[in-house]
Amino acid sequence: MILSIESSCDDSSIAVTEIESRKVLFHKKISQELEHSQYGGVVPELASRLHLEALPKILEEAKEFFPNIKAVAVTNAPGLSVTLNEGVMMAKCLSISLNVPIIGVNHLIGHIYSLFIEKESVDNLMILLVSGGHTKILKMGADYREIEEVASTTDDSFGESFDKVAKMLGLGYPGGPVIEELAKRGDVSKIEFPIPLRHSKEIKFSYSGLKNAVRVAIAKECYKKEDIAASFQKSAIEHIVMKLKKLFKIDTPKHFAVVGGASANLLLREELAKLSKDFNFNLLYPELHYCSDNAAMIGRVAIEMYKNGDFTTFDKLKVFSRVQF
Ligand code: KG4
Ligand code: ZN
Repeated sequence: MILSIESSCDDSSIAVTEIESRKVLFHKKISQELEHSQYGGVVPELASRLHLEALPKILEEAKEFFPNIKAVAVTNAPGLSVTLNEGVMMAKCLSISLNVPIIGVNHLIGHIYSLFIEKESVDNLMILLVSGGHTKILKMGADYREIEEVASTTDDSFGESFDKVAKMLGLGYPGGPVIEELAKRGDVSKIEFPIPLRHSKEIKFSYSGLKNAVRVAIAKECYKKEDIAASFQKSAIEHIVMKLKKLFKIDTPKHFAVVGGASANLLLREELAKLSKDFNFNLLYPELHYCSDNAAMIGRVAIEMYKNGDFTTFDKLKVFSRVQF
């Protein structure tokens, strides 16, 4: 079994996964949304203190698996360095006390493998990663060792733009679910926001202009919150759809996946489903409860890394707030 730990942002999570069967035997997560809500975003220092309380609490419940643990996996990049450190320190201690190797896992690869929890993986996959920290198009070849970046955002990420709009509207954190819910009651014809980079041929993303357009609209004090939420969400998703259409015309994937916390957005899933019909590809997404940060996805990557002997000694494992493919 592999014990995996995730603490890259505001979720403390630990999982235990059986290596051969890929079965998740234990999985628990303590989220800090309430604590960060009043600040409209994650406060790193507060997040790291909360991990320090939550992780040992969860670990206590996983103790019965200790005799069967063959490796400890932990997210070591990318993320907030102060919160990554909490998980990494726990992994180092466990590695010494259980006398097992450590597997340092890239959080973004974790999101990709959230598609394959308790399942066999799919190769030759194009991926849209939409989370609080990232908006990327990636391509994966045979496995996690063959990942390349096709496109990224030049400023804010997709999820982050939902968080910032929610903050401006006084709706708390995280913004994604609350904006999506509010948008259901909104009328998109009341206000039209620009679709970012609509006339640019380049395949890249940008959300700062759209965010500013929302700021200006809120300042006018003549629009309902639900109408702003609906129109913002429409433009934010249309931006992704337009860029994907451009990309698919030159490079149509056989398998296309959407992963990351914001892949829970149902309107985004609907639009991607339309694209999958138009361009005839197989669309994959994680189960809803595995979209946001969790240790089960880290454990799933770690199974592959364990089989390849991709270990790190505890004195060499470092944290990185950013990564490049
Ligand atoms: O992957 P994740 O849990 O953490 C990071 O790795 O960043 O993603 C969290 C992000 C937050 O920005 C949150 O607002 C966004 O995902 N999110 C959504 C939805 N649910 C979560 N964004 C849009 N629509 C949603 N339904
Ligand atoms: Zn994430």
